[in-house]
Amino acid sequence: MVSSPVATGSGNSEQWVNPLKDPHDKRLPRIAGPSGMVIFGVTGDLARKKLLPAIYDLANRGLLPAGFALVGFGRRDWSKQDFEDYVHEAVLAGARTDIREHVFKRLAEGMHFVSGNFDDDQAFDTLAETLASLDASRGTAGNWAFYLSVPPDFFDDVVNQLDRSGMAHATQHSWRRVIIEKPFGHDQESARKLNVAVNRVFPEDSVFRIDHYLGKETVQNILALRFANQLFDPLWNANFVDHVQITMAEDIGLGGRAGYYDGIGAARDVIQNHLLQLLALVAMEEPITYTPQELRAEKIKVLRATAPVYPLAKTTARGQYTAGWQGSQAVVGLREEEGFDPESNTETFAACTLNINSRRWAGVPFYLRSGKRLGRRVTEIAIVFKQAPHLTFAESTTAAQGPNALVIRVQPDEGVLMRFGSKVPGSTMEVRDVNMDFSYSEAFTEQSPEAYERLILDALLDENSLFPTNEEVELSWAILDPILEYWASRGRPDDYPAGTWGPESADKMMARSGRTWRRP
Ligand code: BG6
Repeated sequence: MVSSPVATGSGNSEQWVNPLKDPHDKRLPRIAGPSGMVIFGVTGDLARKKLLPAIYDLANRGLLPAGFALVGFGRRDWSKQDFEDYVHEAVLAGARTDIREHVFKRLAEGMHFVSGNFDDDQAFDTLAETLASLDASRGTAGNWAFYLSVPPDFFDDVVNQLDRSGMAHATQHSWRRVIIEKPFGHDQESARKLNVAVNRVFPEDSVFRIDHYLGKETVQNILALRFANQLFDPLWNANFVDHVQITMAEDIGLGGRAGYYDGIGAARDVIQNHLLQLLALVAMEEPITYTPQELRAEKIKVLRATAPVYPLAKTTARGQYTAGWQGSQAVVGLREEEGFDPESNTETFAACTLNINSRRWAGVPFYLRSGKRLGRRVTEIAIVFKQAPHLTFAESTTAAQGPNALVIRVQPDEGVLMRFGSKVPGSTMEVRDVNMDFSYSEAFTEQSPEAYERLILDALLDENSLFPTNEEVELSWAILDPILEYWASRGRPDDYPAGTWGPESADKMMARSGRTWRRP
């Protein structure tokens, strides 16, 4: 640790190392060097709601270089001023930090918009000229990140255009990177093809695949919890853990998202990426050092050892929400949502059982589930422990006690909870479950940055530990593909009314092994 006292060698006198002088001190704000970003798909939902506010928040926190340039590329016939107005509106609606007009104004000076289609050579040549002129006027030094916030069908076109126009090519003194949004393919085969297409132009170390869950503080905290403490590791294995439940529940429906979601479904949308990344962080071995290479190597090992439990008819469940209630509001079912095919078989709830074939996890099922229009919005990982092998108390004493659990609450109410039995005050011995709760909002005064702030900054800083590699993406598809194929052969998913916790088949799936889902 750089801040710890360093003995000078004479007696007990100690001298503090000035952390400001140590380039490895992570407490120093990490500020991106000269650079700019081009966003493809800048008029889409993601850019408007997440990317543009995150870029402003980074600028507001002083983490972008003074001459940062932001270039939008899209079909609209926009002037620089139109683009600035659009970004301003997005920032007002979505920024996490205070609105300071002078910060926005400085950022806006580096904004440009280039109008065109992805098959329009001329537009890409204009984009290349724009970047060259920004290099001269803003000092971006030829360092450009290309953010592909577009459907995967367009990845190939955009990447080829960046290659053809020369924009993809780094020089000895400048870098070029590509940031790619999910979905990365729809199965292992298509993901492999996309990887080949992208890696043909951008070497793997300049590809940043976004999984925004990895940008969340609580997700990064999984590593701190496991590897910075002595308390949990001895219990973190098949000797003590009965099973693990990973839940990502959302209360929102899919109104307005038919174009993206119909034909994709819950498993492709979030299990293939977010939930399998959570599983990898929970289940992986300790990396030898905390470096991107070692971290990714451990995630790859654990994903390679992960497989569905068969028969899939008994170990998976899927559902589609029907009309119901969200709080006090009546809501329609998926098939009545605007833009959805009334015959759509797209699942809005997916659950599966996975095994990890390793000594640490042999025989410990990992249950993953995610759904839209469920009871409430919550993402959590519950490590559920085995029952004590022997109980000295009479059975009636512990009747109200469930299994011990460690619950990592990813969101909302970010924190970690331990659930265990405790004596109920009184003259008899009665044991009941209690919670010991750590909450981010109470323990820290610092506010968590938005996931996209962290990830955009990391991409500009060439810090790639929070970005899944091509191999991780393909391995995740390999885990899911047999389940998706099985579902595709089964027709319509089961129904569940909006506002409930999913179809009955999901409860039955757990009941078969004598377990129940947590009701977070
Ligand atoms: C996205 C999915 O990746 O994550 C969405 O495509 C989902 O369907 C979203 O709503 C949830 O993100 P968060 O950060 O709100 O949990």
